[in-house]
Amino acid sequence: MWLEGFLRSQLKRLLAKESLIALEKRPPLLESRFQDIDEFGLYLHIPFCGQICPYCPYNKEIYHPEVARSYTNAVIKEIDIYSEMVGNRPVTSFYIGGGTPTTMFYSGLDEILEHIFAAFSMQCDIHMESHPNDLSIDNLNAINSMGVEHLSIGVEALQDHHLKALHRPYTVEQVKAAVEQAVGKSFKCVNVDTIFALPNQTYSEVQQAGHLLVEMGVDQVAAYPLFKFPYTKWAQLAKERNYKSAGIFKRRKMLGILERVFYDAGFERTSVWAFTKPGVPKYCSVTVPLYVGLGASGGSYLKDIFYLNTFNVHEYIRALESGRMPIALSLDLSERLQMASWLYWRIYETRFRRSDFQKRFGKEFDKVFGKYIKLLSLVGFLKNDGDEIVLSDNGTYWLHVLQDLFSIEYISRLWGTSQQEPWPEKVVL
Ligand SMILES: C[S@@+](CC[C@H](N)C(=O)[O-])C[C@H]1O[C@@H](n2cnc3c(N)ncnc32)[C@H](O)[C@@H]1O
Ligand code: SF4
Repeated sequence: MWLEGFLRSQLKRLLAKESLIALEKRPPLLESRFQDIDEFGLYLHIPFCGQICPYCPYNKEIYHPEVARSYTNAVIKEIDIYSEMVGNRPVTSFYIGGGTPTTMFYSGLDEILEHIFAAFSMQCDIHMESHPNDLSIDNLNAINSMGVEHLSIGVEALQDHHLKALHRPYTVEQVKAAVEQAVGKSFKCVNVDTIFALPNQTYSEVQQAGHLLVEMGVDQVAAYPLFKFPYTKWAQLAKERNYKSAGIFKRRKMLGILERVFYDAGFERTSVWAFTKPGVPKYCSVTVPLYVGLGASGGSYLKDIFYLNTFNVHEYIRALESGRMPIALSLDLSERLQMASWLYWRIYETRFRRSDFQKRFGKEFDKVFGKYIKLLSLVGFLKNDGDEIVLSDNGTYWLHVLQDLFSIEYISRLWGTSQQEPWPEKVVL
C-alpha cells in the first residue's frame, strides 16, 4: 500500500510534473473553449439498469419509466445548450453508454437520438451498449431502425456458476442465443464485454470462454480482469465469501491464454483489453481525443479543461429544468497534463504516431517523452521504428498495470465521491 502510494506520487511528478491535481466546484465558461476545436466526439450516458450488479463502478440506478421521461426532457435541454455553442462543427464519434441504454428503448431514447441528429452536424456512426436480456428480435429491430451500427453486449462470463457469482440474471445458453441473434443482424461490429480473473476461476475456464466467444462469431471481444472498486458492494461481498483477487502475474497468464485463442482465430489486438477481427471497424467508447459528455455523470474533455456533470439523476434533471448547466466539477489542464493524458490514452490503444502528437501540441514527441520511449524499447515493451510506436503484448500489460496505479485509485476517488455527493466542493486526485 505504502509502495503503491509512493510509486503513484513519483509517476505523477515525472509525467505530469504536478503533485496536486484537484477537481473543483467552479462552473467553467464554455463558449470560448470551442473556438479552436475543429471536431469533437459525443458521449451520452443512460444511468438506468434493470438490476444493479454488485461489482459495477458505473453511475446507475434502477430504471423507472417516469424518471426516464423527465431524464429525456433534461438531456434534450442539455443538447440545446451545446448546440448553440458548437454551431456546425462536425461530431465525428458518438457513443451511448451506461448504465444500460437499452432500458430506455420505449421511454425516450429514440426522441433523444432524433434531437441529437437535428441539433448537431453528425458525421459518424452510433455505438451503443446493451444488456443481453434486452436483445429480443423486436428490440434488435428497434436498435437497427434507430441507426445503431455498432453494438456492444455485456456477456461477462461463459460459465453458469460465474454468472451466478456476478449476480447476472441469465444462463450461458440464454446469453449465447442473444449474441448469436445479434451477430445475425447487419451491424458493422458486434462487441462482447467479458470479465476474467473471476473468483476461483481456472485457466481452463478462461480458455473455454475464449473459444466459445470465437465460435459465437462476434467481431470484437473486450476482456477485462475483474476490478475491485472499494465503493461498490463487491468489496463487502468478496470479504463475506472469502473471494481472493487474482494477482498481477495470474492475470497476465490469463490474458496470455486469451491472446493465444484470439490471435489463433485471426483477431488483432486493438486496445489493452480488446481484440478485433481484421477489417472490422473497432468498437470503442471515444475515438476522437476531444469530447462532450451528455447526461448524469457525463464527462467532457475540451483541450485545456476536463469537467464532469453531477452524478445524481434527480439533481441533473433539476439543474436543467431551472436553466442551469449540470456541471459539478472541473479541472483546468496544464499543457504538461494534457500531454500526459494524451500519452495515457495512446498507450491504452497500444499504438500511436509521433506525428499525431506533433499535430496536436506543435511539439516534437521525442523532446517531451523520448527518453522514456527509449527505455521502454530497451526492455522490449515497444517497437520504436519510424513514426509509429507499437506496444508488445508484454509492454501492453505491464504498462497498463502501471496506469492502473492511477486509474483505479482516481476513479474510486472521483466516482466514489460523486456518487455520494451531487455537488462536491473538491476532489483531490
Ligand atoms: C455498462 S456495462 C455494459 C452494458 C450493460 N449495462 C450490461 O451490464 O450488460 C459495461 C461493462 O463494463 C464491464 N465491467 C463493469 N464492472 C466491471 C468491473 N468491476 N471489472 C471489470 N469489468 C467491469 C463489464 O464487462 C460490463 O459489461
Ligand atoms: S454491469 Fe451493466 S447492468 Fe450491471 S449495474 Fe453495471 S451498468 Fe448496470
